[in-house]
Amino acid sequence: HHHQQPHRTSYHFQPPKNWINDPNGPMIYKGIYHLFYQYNPKGAVWGNIVWAHSTSTDLINWEPHDHAIYPSQPSDINGCWSGSATILPGEKPAILYTGINPKNQQVQNLAVPKNLSDPYLREWVKSPNNPLMAPTPQNHINASSFRDPTTAWIGPDGEWRVIVGSKLDARGLAVMYRSKDFVKWNQVDHPLHYKDGMGMWECPDFFPVAKTGRKGVETRVYGSQVKHVLKVSLDDTKHDVYTVGTYNWQKDIYIPNKGSIESYNGLRYDYGKYYASKTFFDSQKKRRVLWGWVNESSSVDDDIKKGWSGVQAIPRAVWLDASGKQLIQWPVVEIQKLRNNKVKLTNEVLKKGSIVEAKGVTAAQADVEISFKVENFKKAEILKPEWKDPQLLCSQKGTSTTKSGSVGPFGLLVLASNDLKEYTSVSFRVFKGQHKYVVLMCSDQSRSSLNSNNDKTTYGAFLDVDPTRENLSLRSLIDHSIVESFGIKGKGCITARVYPTLAIGDSVGLYAFNNGTDSVTITKLTAWSMKKALIN
Ligand code: FRU
Repeated sequence: HHHQQPHRTSYHFQPPKNWINDPNGPMIYKGIYHLFYQYNPKGAVWGNIVWAHSTSTDLINWEPHDHAIYPSQPSDINGCWSGSATILPGEKPAILYTGINPKNQQVQNLAVPKNLSDPYLREWVKSPNNPLMAPTPQNHINASSFRDPTTAWIGPDGEWRVIVGSKLDARGLAVMYRSKDFVKWNQVDHPLHYKDGMGMWECPDFFPVAKTGRKGVETRVYGSQVKHVLKVSLDDTKHDVYTVGTYNWQKDIYIPNKGSIESYNGLRYDYGKYYASKTFFDSQKKRRVLWGWVNESSSVDDDIKKGWSGVQAIPRAVWLDASGKQLIQWPVVEIQKLRNNKVKLTNEVLKKGSIVEAKGVTAAQADVEISFKVENFKKAEILKPEWKDPQLLCSQKGTSTTKSGSVGPFGLLVLASNDLKEYTSVSFRVFKGQHKYVVLMCSDQSRSSLNSNNDKTTYGAFLDVDPTRENLSLRSLIDHSIVESFGIKGKGCITARVYPTLAIGDSVGLYAFNNGTDSVTITKLTAWSMKKALIN
């Protein structure tokens, strides 16, 4: 199987075959985690969309169930698109999702479990009142841009609120509805938030985060202890961007923090491939968990040949950074259960051009953490004012010795073939900016595969860190065709899809490297082989 399918993942969620996209309705109910997702039962490309369903007790091993929601009534006969779960009082889950009606309009529907005593909640019944929200000639809602309801939240006044992603001309908006009984929904006369020039807001997510600490909070928490996060998925660029701000429940408006960028260039959950993400509050472990869909970078022909497309990223715990300016994301601790055969390196000096191997790990399926100490920043390359786009900077600078700076690039070579004909490089590079050092993190896929049909775009991010005070650390979760990298303990994340032709199975290496002209020290490298998870 591995010979024919070298790119299937071992611990990232995917069904046995076919197309998947957005994670839907994630929740925990009586100790069992539920993941629904957009799925095409008939093939490896998008279409015929239903909600597939799997459950887990640890977010790592998953058991499949029958499709939970599929076209069966006029309000969803042409597709059951994305949506979210809300736990109603009395521990009663409810799902709001987008249905495509016979006129191909987007409308919002409700489904509830048929039998609350089934721990897996396998069967769902749809409300006879569907659709509950629909475009009408009066309400100025564009019938082809009205989808993906969020988890609803109840106000101190006892009324439910929910937002639905939308667009009017070039304005992205979060259309808002309120309800007393979760069935009859009235449109609020203004959106929760909108922004001109941003295009369609798919899959909005709106949730509170504690101002201090890492604990998650329920979606219905208000007041001075929390800030709110609004994430939207930008249809044009396929990026998930967010702002941190303040929610006023009396007025039902959200105001992003001063200084937060609200545009295509805003803060992103992930600077690689990561889309249509959604959080839920894990009431068992008191944390907020983020799911995100990672599409392929292979050609559609190759997807059809391999028979599948799309995986879900490893769920991440999210909390507000001490600065209050951004979120921190870190793989859920449960993933560490799969770690095996630890390998360690300490205090290793890397001169210009050196490469050291982390021997003894199954490098196609690994978890690696590394941290670097830079002795001297004085000679760091000057950042030109026009170098504003981190992705462009990463692809122009590359990670080879020929374009080295004095501080970096240094980092990891992952999914590397024995002769280094193929590798993906995840690295740092430090520049001297106007008033501070600027840390660039890159994930360079340009050498990842000899197969030229793949999209090998290089990704990059600027990280908000002072490198003179903190070691530059990196963690990568490597799983055959996916590399999820977390810079500076989760301050910046980059996910990449790669399809090596040589670096497969046992013929894969894991290395640390430095191509900067100045030496750097690996203070510590720890790598683990990862066991296979039981997935579907
Ligand atoms: C995002 C999205 C959603 C939609 C779903 C359809 O990837 O386009 O807006 O509900 O996928 O599968």
